[in-house]
This record gives sequence, structure tokens and C-alpha cells, in this order.
Amino acid sequence: MDRLFGWFRNKKPPGGEPILGENVPKHVAIIMDGNGRWARSHGMPRIAGHRAGMKNVKTITMAANDLGVKALTLYAFSTENWKRPQEEVDFLMKLPQEFFPLEIDELKANNVRIRMMGEREGLPEHTLRAVDAAIEDTKHNTGLILNFALNYGSRRELLLGMRRFAEEVKSGERDPDDLTEATFGGYLQSEGLPELDLLIRTSGEVRISNFMLWQLAYTELWFTDVYWPEFSEEHFYEAIRSYQGRARRYGKL
Ligand code: FPP
Repeated sequence: MDRLFGWFRNKKPPGGEPILGENVPKHVAIIMDGNGRWARSHGMPRIAGHRAGMKNVKTITMAANDLGVKALTLYAFSTENWKRPQEEVDFLMKLPQEFFPLEIDELKANNVRIRMMGEREGLPEHTLRAVDAAIEDTKHNTGLILNFALNYGSRRELLLGMRRFAEEVKSGERDPDDLTEATFGGYLQSEGLPELDLLIRTSGEVRISNFMLWQLAYTELWFTDVYWPEFSEEHFYEAIRSYQGRARRYGKL
């Protein structure tokens, strides 16, 4: 809270009303799109865009943490991204071992806890080692949960969850009626995270791309043309302000 009030005193977001300390979204997810186009527009190879995108992860994580957001889920690698050229896939798979050693001290100092969702199977050992070390290193932290979606696809997540439930029914541990809107989330990889309040997608694409399909039922959506490496704190505040200005009715009047 101290940090939040400090932020209030010192750092009014430019171009609009200050962000209110209340009605901050608990859980924000971001589809970090546009790294490749950003790189190309600067005459650089695509991988330079991914590295710039990686650097931006820290900036937006700190901004979210300072605001009091409880969980930030970042779409870092989808189940479809394996179809990219091998060189690019290899580069993306090495990003965790570049990112965490560089940023873990500051993340820890800010009480950030690392988490991952997605299928471990298929991810290289070195990627998992870097992510697991960061998860272990931050497991007692109580601030923002920084949740990386890696080798994640929502249809796959739903199928795996339902298969697990079916196995539990088969073994007599559960009855089909045990599956309700309340219990369903417990079979998903986002289990235990707050309801998803706000989804941001950068780079001008307006689609969901197999991301958190169940969790998005009542989520507010924010699309921007800005490429991820250029998505700044100010852009983030703009999305938050928009969220705060919306009336969420959940189907009621
Ligand atoms: C989509 O942009 C972006 C990705 C597939 C990778 C996103 C990953 C990061 C930003 C870094 C994650 C950091 C860690 C530590 C795991 P694109 O390549 O599809 O861009 P384009 O649509 O312009 O080609």
C-alpha cells in the first residue's frame, strides 16, 4: 500500500484523470503481440523484437504491482507457436533463462511471485529449469502473481481438465453433478487465481487466439494498435482507466 500511495503522490498518469486506488482489476492478462512487426519497423530481425518484448515484461509487471493488481498473466508462448521457424522457437525458449537471472532480484524485492500455466511436456529442460528456479525462489512472496502462459492453449487446457474430471468420475471419487461453474475452474491451469477482470491485446489484432476461453466469460477487453515492445506504463494506465470507467453488469440491468 505504501508503494501505491507513493505512486499517487509522485506519479499522476499523464493525459487523463488519475487512476483511482479503488476498483483496480484484480487479474489482468495480456496477449503480448507485435514483437516481430516492431522489430521489422526498426530494421531489426524478429528476435530483437522478442528481446525488447522481454524487457517490457519487467516494466509492466512493476506498474501492475504498484497499482495493487493481484495477478498478471502474460501469454509468452502458445501451443501454436511451435509452428514458427525453429530458430525463433529456440530463441523464445531461451528467454526465461535470460529474463530471470536479470530480473529476479528486483522481482523478489517487490514481493512478486512467479507462476506458470501451460503444458510442461514439450518444453525444453533448460526452459523449465529457469522457470522452476524462479517459482521456487519466489514461492513465499505475497505480492503480485506473475503468471507466464508457456506452451499454453486454452482448448488443450479445457480438454486436460475435463479428462482429469472424467478420470475422477470413473474412479468413483466424483459424481458428474460435482461439476459446476464454481468447481470447473479448479480443473484449469489458472486454478486459484482471481477472476480475470481485464484482457489487453497489443498490436491491433482483435482476436482471442485460444487464450483463457473459460476465464474470459465476463472479462473486459482492451485492444490497442501499439506493438508490445512499445506498450508503456502510460498505455497500461490508459487500459486500467478504461476498465475503471466501465459498468460491469454481468448480464444484470
Ligand atoms: C507475439 O509477437 C509474441 C510472442 C509469440 C512472444 C512473446 C514473448 C515475450 C514478449 C517475452 C516473454 C518473456 C519471458 C521471460 C518468457 P509476434 O512475434 O507474433 O509479433 P508479430 O505478430 O508482429 O510477428
